[in-house]
Amino acid sequence: MSDVKRVPLMLMDEKGSKYLIIPTQEMSEIKGIGVVDSERLMKEPFGSKIEISGKVYMILEASLLDILANIKRGPQWIMAKDSAQILVGCGIGPGSKVLEIGTGSGALTIVLAYYVGPEGKVVTYEYNEKNARLASRNLDQAGLTHIVEINVGEAADCNSVGEFDTVVMDVPQPWDLLDISCKALKPSGHFCAYVPTMNQVEQTIRALRESGFIETRAVENLQREIVVGKGGTRPSFEMLGHTGYITVGRKMGR
Ligand SMILES: C[S@@+](CC[C@H](N)C(=O)[O-])C[C@H]1O[C@@H](n2cnc3c(N)ncnc32)[C@H](O)[C@@H]1O
Repeated sequence: MSDVKRVPLMLMDEKGSKYLIIPTQEMSEIKGIGVVDSERLMKEPFGSKIEISGKVYMILEASLLDILANIKRGPQWIMAKDSAQILVGCGIGPGSKVLEIGTGSGALTIVLAYYVGPEGKVVTYEYNEKNARLASRNLDQAGLTHIVEINVGEAADCNSVGEFDTVVMDVPQPWDLLDISCKALKPSGHFCAYVPTMNQVEQTIRALRESGFIETRAVENLQREIVVGKGGTRPSFEMLGHTGYITVGRKMGR
């Protein structure tokens, strides 16, 4: 059996700068380092040190946050603080089947695929070809392509019936896609829309209630980093004031 690790890994230099290494390539051109023999790197144990061109790097397994920090950005993407809340709020875990509408850069798709794992499935719709290509590249880099089916097209064309545990959407008018969501969900399945304005929250929740969804609610998730210094530990002055609202409901059995 090969002793090569087939998971994304990170090189971290002494200043804490990190560089993602994709496991499938033999030689990788890494911006800021140069050409590295990734096959050789993958044989080294995690936590060990390696010298490349006179500089010392620690070899780490890439975390999901490392992978997300390295994706190519297109449309505004959902940050980890919010995707974590979506996972827990919608009961998404190993084996879950998730329908996603609005793939965008694929940041949420990566998180969903990472957690549903090989026993689960993420089916995602994106009508902008350029964004679908970008998301596909990002998923490939994360090593998660096999868990995701990307459909390049309008989500309204989805004709799935009772197949999904969760429907998640990041589109401007989620209420227009409630019918297909309702059809696609299993009874008691979770619906989630990620929207940036209160007006959208209100319209989504009203439409969910009119369609018979239960446990409808919206949350905002604020996250503040703590700067740790001896005797002066305090919250960071830089806090992202607003991202989006997580708006959820559950389908009744009918
Ligand atoms: C804000 S982005 C999604 C970002 C994504 N959640 C992420 O974390 O990277 C919204 C995406 O939805 C797509 N979109 C909007 N309405 C759609 C629809 N009805 N069917 C398919 N895609 C749609 C847009 O083209 C855009 O790429």
